[in-house]
Amino acid sequence: MAAYISLASLLSLFTVFAASQSVKFVYNGFNETNLTLVGATVIRPSGALKLTNKSHHVIGSAFHPIPIPMFNTSSSAAPNASSFSTSFVFAIVSPSSSKGGFGFAFTLAPAMQFPGAQDGHYLGILNETNDGDSSNHIFMVEFDTVAGFKMDSDTQGNHIGININNMNPNASEPAAYFVNGTNKKREVPLESGKAIYAWIDYDGVKKLVNVTIAPVDFPKPSRPLMSESIDLSPVLKNRMYAGFSAATGQKASFHYILGWSFRVNGMADRLNLSRLPIPPNETKSSSKIQIKKALIATFCAVVVLFLLGTLFTVFIYRPTKQFEVLEDWELDCPHRFRYRDLNTATKGFKDSELIGVGGFGKVYKGVLPNTGAEIAVKKISNNSVQGIREFAAEIESLGRLRHKHLVNLQGWCKRKNDLLLVYDYIPNGSLASILFSTKKNFVLSWEHRFNIVKGIAAGLLYLHEEWEQVVIHRDVKSSNVLIDADMNGRLGDFGLARLYDHGKHSHTTHVVGTIGYIAPELIQTGKASKSSDVFAYGVLLLEVACGRGPIVHEVPDPGHVILVNWVIECLQMGRILDAVDPKLNSMYVVEEMELVLGLGLICSHPKPETRPTMREVTRYLNGDEPVPISNTISSVDSRQFDDITTRFLDVLSTDMITTSYRSSSIGKMSSSSFDSARQLD
Ligand SMILES: *[C@@H]1O[C@H](CO)[C@@H](O)[C@H](O)[C@H]1NC(C)=O
Ligand SMILES: *[C@@H]1O[C@H](CO)[C@@H](O)[C@H](O)[C@H]1NC(C)=O
Ligand SMILES: *[C@@H]1O[C@H](CO)[C@@H](O)[C@H](O)[C@H]1NC(C)=O
Ligand SMILES: *[C@@H]1O[C@H](CO)[C@@H](O)[C@H](O)[C@H]1NC(C)=O
Ligand SMILES: *[C@@H]1O[C@H](CO)[C@@H](O)[C@H](O)[C@H]1NC(C)=O
Ligand SMILES: *[C@@H]1O[C@H](CO)[C@@H](O)[C@H](O)[C@H]1NC(C)=O
Ligand SMILES: *[C@@H]1O[C@H](CO)[C@@H](O)[C@H](O)[C@H]1NC(C)=O
Ligand SMILES: *[C@@H]1O[C@H](CO)[C@@H](O)[C@H](O)[C@H]1NC(C)=O
Ligand SMILES: *[C@@H]1O[C@H](CO)[C@@H](O)[C@H](O)[C@H]1NC(C)=O
Ligand SMILES: *[C@@H]1O[C@H](CO)[C@@H](O)[C@H](O)[C@H]1NC(C)=O
Ligand SMILES: *[C@@H]1O[C@H](CO)[C@@H](O)[C@H](O)[C@H]1NC(C)=O
Repeated sequence: MAAYISLASLLSLFTVFAASQSVKFVYNGFNETNLTLVGATVIRPSGALKLTNKSHHVIGSAFHPIPIPMFNTSSSAAPNASSFSTSFVFAIVSPSSSKGGFGFAFTLAPAMQFPGAQDGHYLGILNETNDGDSSNHIFMVEFDTVAGFKMDSDTQGNHIGININNMNPNASEPAAYFVNGTNKKREVPLESGKAIYAWIDYDGVKKLVNVTIAPVDFPKPSRPLMSESIDLSPVLKNRMYAGFSAATGQKASFHYILGWSFRVNGMADRLNLSRLPIPPNETKSSSKIQIKKALIATFCAVVVLFLLGTLFTVFIYRPTKQFEVLEDWELDCPHRFRYRDLNTATKGFKDSELIGVGGFGKVYKGVLPNTGAEIAVKKISNNSVQGIREFAAEIESLGRLRHKHLVNLQGWCKRKNDLLLVYDYIPNGSLASILFSTKKNFVLSWEHRFNIVKGIAAGLLYLHEEWEQVVIHRDVKSSNVLIDADMNGRLGDFGLARLYDHGKHSHTTHVVGTIGYIAPELIQTGKASKSSDVFAYGVLLLEVACGRGPIVHEVPDPGHVILVNWVIECLQMGRILDAVDPKLNSMYVVEEMELVLGLGLICSHPKPETRPTMREVTRYLNGDEPVPISNTISSVDSRQFDDITTRFLDVLSTDMITTSYRSSSIGKMSSSSFDSARQLD
């Protein structure tokens, strides 16, 4: 009998010993070597465990690396989870003046990491899919500073909750403590930045979870804030990891744990407060007088600055006042420029910086203040432009287009009803300004012309077929082709014509484009397509070959108004080379010239189905395939073109067409650049 008793007591002694050996720990401050850290968590040199930083939507957790046995394995009957007790000191510091978020939770979980866990209300532990799932086996006590996870409960911002497998607390209370011997509660603001002591005690026999908090320098209140009857036996598994997890969301706070004590079967040891690290002040000064002083000083400074600023704005700076009022959606646009920068770059949109006036607006040259990069800024002043927001979305997408034969759109800026588009600055001005220049001393060589049309074909092919979505240019013309320093052609203003679609009322069908470049079917249907771009490209080819604009006013015979007709006439007379620009002075390769003229004619064929695609055009220009010229051209009746002429003139008298005939878009040819281009010749 005696032997039996001693054996039993020995056994129980052994289990107590074993339990207390493995499952009691005290951290008076933390040390890198002990905890398993995940995410944004770091241990500060002071020994403070910092779970989150001030970044938004981050997760941080720290776990004691050794799993804790939560059941008395010696008993064979239906097991009850063991009692445990834990206490810790924490501080939540919200950045600057605003409220922070979200919170942190003491956690008992079967694992130390939670792949796929979400930030914000999920505190880096659960996610939408597994929230509430009993297979999680997670027990949490959350210290949450943001209200309203599921509206019905959790509505108090500053609260503590007991959560079982679930972000919706099974019980929750505003953060407070009971004053000893009374029913009076004192609120504890969790986010104050001050250190707070917390105790969590589970009684495995009574199946009771107690949660208590108090300011760090207070003894433990005798009455817990929460005392909930919850049986953790089905929740916990035999081996559980204990630790903390925190997350930020739209709002962010620093979550610090300064010390932590844990024990299974027995009360956790009290922390030695004198050894705990002090939470960094971050932005909060503990002295109220200091805060008041600082507030008063700041207020005075703000008032003075505001008065000065107002005076400055009203009396000195008024002509270029530039407060930027941004709408929310604008903040997300990576290609948005600041108005202030563009204003500085263009010297306040001074006339001396004007390099062109196009159908859509004025174009200014500018130099960006911070990078020194040269830009061209197109200012579209149109009070009637509606739906600018949708258009901005489109510009954002066009801003990602990059091709060496496009004038790349760097970004944009909206200011009241003005839309500013920022492009690469192209030094040599537009193809139209060079081709139709009246200056006698400069002629664009055939070699350059041929190279330019090939480049533009490549750029247009990219827009039509090679980018992630089809972009219809809608306004291909020689004045939208800019010539860069290497005499390469670059196509500008792509996609811009849609601005007018967004802007005008939808009940009127209107055609956007430039007279002479508008495909006949476009006038009937009002619908731009890849094939109507090809039509305009064909006209461009003829322009380059003939050195004339699409409407040949100079020809004395009034029947020959359209360039295409005139070329066809030359073709029908068997003397197509009569159409060639006389300024070239017969300095060209005949095969290339015939190729360009012929291709120009099929591209600008009145029947869209006869026109080639830009891919075919590229192949013809590269000599990979011969142009199927004879059969298509012979079927063209020049009277058909006269029809089109008549329709053009009809349309001209209405305001259905936005005209921008031969207007230069970006850049202007200066005489010095003519000279440098000439040297390149
Ligand atoms: C962490 O603990 C180890 C071993 O006890 C010690 O060598 C080290 O200095 C400690 N580091 C800090 C930062 O306290
Ligand atoms: C932390 O690690 C150090 C060194 O590994 C060890 O001496 C110390 O006991 C550990 N502390 C706890 C609370 O486990
Ligand atoms: C916060 O932590 C995250 C995750 O480790 C990190 O990516 C981010 O840079 C940190 N932010 C700051 C402000 O340190
Ligand atoms: C578990 O607890 C219940 C009371 O809540 C008790 O009746 C039962 O005997 C306990 N089981 C074990 C194995 O201790
Ligand atoms: C587990 O064992 C310890 C030590 O023997 C004991 O104090 C405790 O009450 C037991 N827990 C349960 C739930 O039976
Ligand atoms: C949710 O979390 C679980 C467990 O961590 C993970 O297996 C699952 O993939 C996550 N779900 C999503 C949608 O991320
Ligand atoms: C906790 O609440 C969830 C639902 O919110 C419920 O499914 C679960 O049974 C509750 N657990 C306990 C132990 O009350
Ligand atoms: C929990 O709180 C209740 C009510 O105040 C108390 O009777 C009980 O002893 C507490 N249990 C623990 C383990 O602290
Ligand atoms: C409250 O009562 C408990 C136990 O009676 C005691 O330890 C503690 O010091 C008291 N707290 C305060 C603030 O008086
Ligand atoms: C707390 O820590 C200090 C400094 O390490 C030590 O002098 C003091 O004895 C400790 N107090 C207790 C109660 O352990
Ligand atoms: C925090 O503020 C207190 C009081 O203003 C000051 O004594 C202490 O040195 C500060 N701590 C840090 C880490 O700045």
